[in-house]
Amino acid sequence: MDTVLVTGGTGHLGRDLIGRLKPAHRVRVLARTRGTDPDVEWVRGDLRTGAGIREAVAGVRTVVHAATWSPAARRGYLLPTDFWRSPPDVDVHGTRRLLDEAGRAGIGHFAYVSIVGVDRPLLPYLRLKYQAEELVRAGDVPWSVLRATQFHWLTDRLLGKAARLPVLPLPTDIEAQPVDSGDFAAYVAQRVADGPGGRCEDFGGPEVLRFGDLVAQWQRIRGRHRKVVRLPVPARFERAARALTCPAGHRGAVTWSAWLRSHPPE
Ligand SMILES: NC(=O)c1ccc[n+]([C@@H]2O[C@H](COP(=O)([O-])OP(=O)(O)OC[C@H]3O[C@@H](n4cnc5c(N)ncnc54)[C@H](OP(=O)(O)O)[C@@H]3O)[C@@H](O)[C@H]2O)c1
Repeated sequence: MDTVLVTGGTGHLGRDLIGRLKPAHRVRVLARTRGTDPDVEWVRGDLRTGAGIREAVAGVRTVVHAATWSPAARRGYLLPTDFWRSPPDVDVHGTRRLLDEAGRAGIGHFAYVSIVGVDRPLLPYLRLKYQAEELVRAGDVPWSVLRATQFHWLTDRLLGKAARLPVLPLPTDIEAQPVDSGDFAAYVAQRVADGPGGRCEDFGGPEVLRFGDLVAQWQRIRGRHRKVVRLPVPARFERAARALTCPAGHRGAVTWSAWLRSHPPE
């Protein structure tokens, strides 16, 4: 059995991915805090400082780099500062550190997890993801770049926080294509089995939804009754939001409503 190193293995995608990799690979996780799964080899480290990276890549055939640091995703809402900066420590500098050590260790496949539409970024966080992709493409290690649309958990968290307000001013006419991180994890695990594939097909959810319809489904299933006010947005913003979908790409199976029904609110 070969060893696969997963960064971000304590996160939403990472946890799903570990389950899908375990039957066919030894799984090692570089994590700031050791997890509890006894079938995983936990290496304590931090992409922000570089601690543990060399130990983590030693003897590994494939690295799946799924760690990220998005302050907005963590808190579940956007602040004005998110529109002009995002910290590059993990996503850019950490990716560079990981790539350098992967190159030294002779890793055969570096699979970078990214986001659909990062080449036309709406937010500085997305720009960082694109910079990281460029590092991966320019590096010496054979690579894959695997992009997904927005995960259901994040859409749910953002709406849950927004619904603390009595009224929801939202860009109801933009399109969204949320996806189950478990569906995407299965796709990533298959790409690990296939080996370096360069820029792989984008992966999105089964439906492209008008944001207003997505919110209506969320309210119905979560039992919320907030008044939604249509927030007009420039056509430029609508186009940028459409770039975050991939109707022609690979599609997951779990719909937004099915996911909501099977996951309690956070
Ligand atoms: N969320 C989305 O909608 C979405 C959509 C498409 C693609 N993606 C991409 O999918 C990947 C996983 O996203 P996710 O939603 O699963 O993220 P997540 O749940 O926020 O998990 C992020 C992971 O990164 C780890 N991490 C953060 N800072 C770190 C550091 N300094 N050193 C080492 N590990 C660190 C976290 O560890 P701790 O537990 O220690 O914090 C956690 O395991 C990312 O590349 C993301 O850009 C996300």
